[in-house]
Amino acid sequence: METFKAFRVHTVDGKPQCRFEQLTLDDIDPGPVVIRTAFSAITYKDAMAARGVGKNVRTDRPCVTGVDLSGVVIRSEDERFREGDSVVVTNYQLGTFHDGAYADYARVPAEWVVPLPDGLSLYEAMGLGTSGLTAALAVDRFERAGLKPGDGPVAVTGASGGVGSLAVDMLATRGYEVVAISGKAEQTDFLKSIGASRVLSREAFMQDKSPLVSSPPFAGALDNVGGAMLDRLAANLMPHGKVAVAGMVGVELTTTVLPLVLRSIDILGINVSRQLKMPERRRLWQRMATDLKPRHLDRIARPIPFTDLDKTMDSFFNVSSVGRVVVEVGSTAPR
Ligand SMILES: NC(=O)c1ccc[n+]([C@@H]2O[C@H](COP(=O)([O-])OP(=O)(O)OC[C@H]3O[C@@H](n4cnc5c(N)ncnc54)[C@H](OP(=O)(O)O)[C@@H]3O)[C@@H](O)[C@H]2O)c1
Repeated sequence: METFKAFRVHTVDGKPQCRFEQLTLDDIDPGPVVIRTAFSAITYKDAMAARGVGKNVRTDRPCVTGVDLSGVVIRSEDERFREGDSVVVTNYQLGTFHDGAYADYARVPAEWVVPLPDGLSLYEAMGLGTSGLTAALAVDRFERAGLKPGDGPVAVTGASGGVGSLAVDMLATRGYEVVAISGKAEQTDFLKSIGASRVLSREAFMQDKSPLVSSPPFAGALDNVGGAMLDRLAANLMPHGKVAVAGMVGVELTTTVLPLVLRSIDILGINVSRQLKMPERRRLWQRMATDLKPRHLDRIARPIPFTDLDKTMDSFFNVSSVGRVVVEVGSTAPR
């Protein structure tokens, strides 16, 4: 039987050990749709799984990690998919409790599979992936909540990260004035080049502690950080402002209800895990291929060879990672 390359996490004495291995199709979790992987990506969730942070990966047996996958169907027992279909799979249990994208092949339930929309290549799909879906859901929810470009600037925190940089581009593409809030002063030019009209230093932004900032500057905010950042954003929102909450870098929150009540703030929770139903998922992928397609994906996403996977993981913990890291899993995949 043909063997192929896979990156698996083993748990030994409670600690993760990652390595490349040669597997056969019978070694990976079964599923009716068999996909030849073209590209994957690295997200914070992948770095957590590789380094044993947060216990988000199964430990009773080895797991091929990688939560984002684009590729081509080579076999399907489900009539919704046929050999040759280009597809995308993100989240569900992929790469955490079901063998994932860091292997030449994956076998998955048909219910997890999204047909690649026209207008996106397999490479571009992984330039977007979970981060793009999160940014797209936030923009979509802003629009449904009635936020319009003329209402005022929209802040994006964690702006240099995967979700942040894609959101900056998507919001600017939709005509919003975007203010990027970032801890990386050296990324100011990058953030302006992808659509930010201004860049604020995270440290400076966090300094004003008042519960209600007079003359609040933002009509909307996408928070990719959480915790104290969410408190500061709420205090900086104009009346009827909207804050989309996606980030979980800071989980605990101490705040006041004052802006929420006195300024009628809407809080929009963003979740692209299995809670995001398939019709919504497909609709958002369609939008990412059309009106939400980032104009600067070539700057936001950078490819790395499959072999560089392990050494690139740590950039997600020391916060040096910028934009999206796309992993070239399938060697012959076109961009
Ligand atoms: N809700 C969902 O469904 C969903 C889906 C995907 C991801 N997420 C969450 O969204 C967040 C962003 O994901 P991502 O993929 O964009 O991650 P990422 O690429 O690692 O970017 C996170 C960014 O947050 C900022 N940051 C990191 N550590 C920080 C700290 N201690 N204090 C303040 N800011 C910090 C940094 O941006 P700057 O240096 O520019 O400030 C960093 O680049 C994560 O918490 C992730 O778990 C949620």
